[in-house]
Amino acid sequence: MMADRAFIAGFFVIGIMAVSAFLTLTAGRDLPADYLQMQVADPVQGERVFIAAGCASCHLAPDAKWDGNAPPPLPGGRRFPSPFGTFTAPNISTHPEAGLGNWSDRAIARAVVLGVSPEGAHYYPAFPYASYQTADPRDIADLIAYLRTLPPVESIAPPHEVGFPFNIRRSLAVWKFLFTDPTPILPDPLPAELARGRYLVETLGHCGECHTPRNPLGGLDRRRWLGGAAHPSGDGSIPNITPAGLIWSEADIAAYLKTGFTPEFDVAGGEMVEVIVNTARLSDADRQAIASYLKAIPPVQ
Ligand code: HEC
Ligand code: HEC
Repeated sequence: MMADRAFIAGFFVIGIMAVSAFLTLTAGRDLPADYLQMQVADPVQGERVFIAAGCASCHLAPDAKWDGNAPPPLPGGRRFPSPFGTFTAPNISTHPEAGLGNWSDRAIARAVVLGVSPEGAHYYPAFPYASYQTADPRDIADLIAYLRTLPPVESIAPPHEVGFPFNIRRSLAVWKFLFTDPTPILPDPLPAELARGRYLVETLGHCGECHTPRNPLGGLDRRRWLGGAAHPSGDGSIPNITPAGLIWSEADIAAYLKTGFTPEFDVAGGEMVEVIVNTARLSDADRQAIASYLKAIPPVQ
């Protein structure tokens, strides 16, 4: 009898320890206290970060066209079909209830670089925070200052359509642990132009999120970086842009990212159209940096 009770009590204690360890290990991390240091954030520079990071490509209204110039309204609502369900981009306008108007700077920064909500829940990787995690904190501060200049939009985007078990956000802690390796693909030291190209491709431009194949759990296969991938919607594929797949010269690549024309005078299609709305607004030096990076990465057959 006594032994039974001790056994049951022990069982409970171990159970509680396991649950609390699980809750601790799977909780959303926070940023270091000094992440957004005292600094004057610059919304003009922040617009450049916003463009390079392609935030509008996902957070515009589903049918909205944007030329990259007027301040973009960001009501969300675009749908992203994937093998795990269909995700919908939320409203990130300055509206106080529907958007981020009442969020602190830290809360926005934590969402973008750690993929953690103000309540501590994990975001789905359809939001490319795994790329943004290596962003320069100064760029994030400037980006937030720019977001605060954008118009409020009142609409609330519909919820995600994600079934069990992917609707349990805690399980994303495991995904993050496995698949958010911050180590760069091209290791240091790099000459300045290549380092800039790496930052624009691997971090802000999140090019790997489309051009790198994924494993069955949706993690990027870093050994086949930019080696081309199946389209997440299950329809078609996204090209290999390593030196083994893309035989264009650096000048051809830079021109494509500016005009959308290939060297054969075809026009870019698919999602790349919206990527080019952004890359067209980068500086010539930035497009050149991207082109030299794409020539320097390991070829993937
Ligand atoms: C590839 C598409 C995509 C891009 C690019 C993207 N986002 Fe998102 N974003 C999403 C999706 C999808 C979610 C919803 C994630 C979830 O609910 O788990 C999201 C969520 C967010 C949230 C949380 C909002 C909330 O209500 O909880 C913020 C803030 C955000 N994004 C800001 C940004 C910023 C700033 C950028 C550019 C630096 C950006 N996003 C780029 C798709 C994207
Ligand atoms: C949202 C998904 C997505 C993102 C993000 C993306 N691409 Fe693409 N990219 C595509 C698709 C789809 C195509 C094929 C376009 C076509 O069919 O005309 C493409 C085509 C290209 C091509 C032409 C390849 C060829 O052989 O025609 C280049 C170069 C390229 N992308 C570079 C980039 C760079 C650099 C980035 C990051 C700044 C990037 N892409 C980000 C989806 C994406």
